[in-house]
Amino acid sequence: MIVVSGATGTVGSQVVTRLQDRGTDVRPLVRAGSAVPAEWGAGVVPAVADFTDPASLDAALAGADVVYLLVAVHPDMATHERNVIDAAVRTGRRPRIVLHAAAGMGQRPDGVRFLAAHNSGLDHLVATGLPWTVLAPNGFFQNFLGMADAVRGGHLALPAGTSPVSYVDARDVADSAVEALTGDGHEGAVYTLTGPAALSHAQIAGHLGVAVGHSVEYEAVRPEAALAGMLGAGWDRWRAEGLVELYGLYAAGGAAAVTSDVEKLTGRPARSFDAFTDEYAGVLRGEGSH
Ligand SMILES: NC(=O)c1ccc[n+]([C@@H]2O[C@H](COP(=O)([O-])OP(=O)(O)OC[C@H]3O[C@@H](n4cnc5c(N)ncnc54)[C@H](OP(=O)(O)O)[C@@H]3O)[C@@H](O)[C@H]2O)c1
Repeated sequence: MIVVSGATGTVGSQVVTRLQDRGTDVRPLVRAGSAVPAEWGAGVVPAVADFTDPASLDAALAGADVVYLLVAVHPDMATHERNVIDAAVRTGRRPRIVLHAAAGMGQRPDGVRFLAAHNSGLDHLVATGLPWTVLAPNGFFQNFLGMADAVRGGHLALPAGTSPVSYVDARDVADSAVEALTGDGHEGAVYTLTGPAALSHAQIAGHLGVAVGHSVEYEAVRPEAALAGMLGAGWDRWRAEGLVELYGLYAAGGAAAVTSDVEKLTGRPARSFDAFTDEYAGVLRGEGSH
């Protein structure tokens, strides 16, 4: 049986749906009161648990053979990963943990808090002696759907510099996760999941512009200006600072590597950004939801 955490989120919800469609025994871990995706059928019975509540994690992980460990971006995310790992140890069944982390962590960058948290989780996981696999996706194409207002305004301002980034489609991350969870031979493997190309943000703005039917200019803004803008828009400071740190890694060229790991896992090439913007043109133009 496969337990999926982060199960109501962008990637986790698709992992559960795909496992259900394959007839795999899957148990999504959901928080009390969370909306359960409509795609899950009656055969998918969630376990109500919280990363902050070890007893609830013990109940959710009972009987697990494999665990998809995906935690949300949160100041306590390292502790959340550790809590799930410790609950997996307590099952006494030695389930394999497929840790959903993030590209760039292998460089062990100082000062990128999201990556430091995932590295801390991985260090703890390795120290437990449980079998493990790491999925380290680069930034998701889908992040740009959240910037649709800026795209429609023709101006994309990010502290991402001019270096290219090999963003990946979150659906390819979910497809890759299903193979990593259900296939053989993935123990001890680290898969860095990227799109088929690294694109500069000016090129990305160009593709977004084609989708919305007018030009979109990219402006590389200074980190301090980006942070001030996010705080002014009501962002939580921890998350805003973390995002600026991550964009700093992008600007330094630290997210440009392209891998074939999506194809290795899924047997087909990763989706391209222009195919994604074609497909989501209506959403980017504000004509639909995603
Ligand atoms: N976005 C990117 O570009 C990107 C790229 C690479 C890696 N990542 C990594 O991907 C992860 C985020 O993935 P995502 O975007 O699919 O997540 P997401 O959409 O933000 O969903 C987060 C999930 O975690 C659950 N959750 C939050 N707090 C919880 C708690 N205390 N106990 C139990 N469940 C809890 C949420 O449940 P509720 O429905 O109850 O809120 C939701 O199911 C992060 O670890 C991030 O570092 C992201």
